[in-house]
Amino acid sequence: MKRILITGALGQIGSELTMKLRDIYGTDNVIATDLKKNNSEAAENGPFEVVDVTDLNNMIEVAKKYKVDTVMHLAALLSATAEAKPVFAWNLNMGGMMNALETARELNAQFFTPSSIGAFGPTTPKDNTPQDTIMRPTTMYGVNKVAGELLSDYYHEKFGVDTRGVRFPGLISYVAKPGGGTTDYAVEIYYEAVKNGKYTSYIDKGTYMDMMYMPDALNAIIDLMEADSAKLTHRNAFNVTAMSFAPEEIAAEIAKQIPGFVLSYDVDPVRQKIADSWPNFIDATAAKQEWGFKAEYDLAKMTKDMIEKLRQKL
Ligand code: NAD
Ligand code: SER
Repeated sequence: MKRILITGALGQIGSELTMKLRDIYGTDNVIATDLKKNNSEAAENGPFEVVDVTDLNNMIEVAKKYKVDTVMHLAALLSATAEAKPVFAWNLNMGGMMNALETARELNAQFFTPSSIGAFGPTTPKDNTPQDTIMRPTTMYGVNKVAGELLSDYYHEKFGVDTRGVRFPGLISYVAKPGGGTTDYAVEIYYEAVKNGKYTSYIDKGTYMDMMYMPDALNAIIDLMEADSAKLTHRNAFNVTAMSFAPEEIAAEIAKQIPGFVLSYDVDPVRQKIADSWPNFIDATAAKQEWGFKAEYDLAKMTKDMIEKLRQKL
């Protein structure tokens, strides 16, 4: 990775990934792109271009202008929004994916895109979900993610594009808010705890989902992209996770830092159904073995850091 184009760079992952990559590879070598510019660090402190991922010519033009050798494709609609607008989600998630892969093929560039725990479905084994297993998701987001994994494999096999990906769990962070996922409650709960000392969860008690703190997610992306290609058997896409918890467990950890914190429930049937179709916890052995994946943050360490950072921010 020497010159990197990122799509959807002003979202939850991109706004932090852009800055971290600029620290490592140099500001001018990381080109942030998104639908619209905003006043975030990622947009203001380095190269930024407006790129709509549904416009292939525009994406290729920008990639050629900066002579990129790596495409990191982040632009997508997340699970809850995709479920509300399935046709729009298909067009954006699959159209964007094809265009990003075509751009990587045209430029002979390395390619990364995140899949998700959403690629699994209700017939997938729920506990210790294997790397290779049944994948029959029942959400539009999941259908898009499975198709994206297969397309990435196809572009590697057919055209020799160096495609790589991970199945991210819910990502927790304090820089940019999440963009319409099912796991967003695990971010909102920290904001509300710091601001108001209470939170009403749309996910029910006892619902376990995999999660990861953003610093571990960024390291996972960089480590996978820097890994020796010859050692990658799976490529698209590796299970990665740092922790699994239910709402009452994250609330108990927050209460250690914010005594008196109160969690209540007002369950959203749509997002609950999505959560119920996903694994309780996945097995990340392949990522550990093939490229040394490791997470530094567990629930306690993440909670302490999130609350400290949000107290400064808010
Ligand atoms: P996000 O919703 O925060 O950001 C997506 C970005 O894409 C936004 O900045 C948005 O403006 C941009 N975008 C939307 N439509 C676009 C278009 N037509 N052209 C260009 N840009 C467009 O999403 P995120 O959380 O940063 O997720 C990035 C990727 O990671 C997605 O593929 C998502 O499925 C995947 N992922 C995220 C999580 C998570 O918890 N955040 C977990 C698993 C996988
Ligand atoms: N956080 C994401 C979502 O809920 C997982 O892919 O959609």
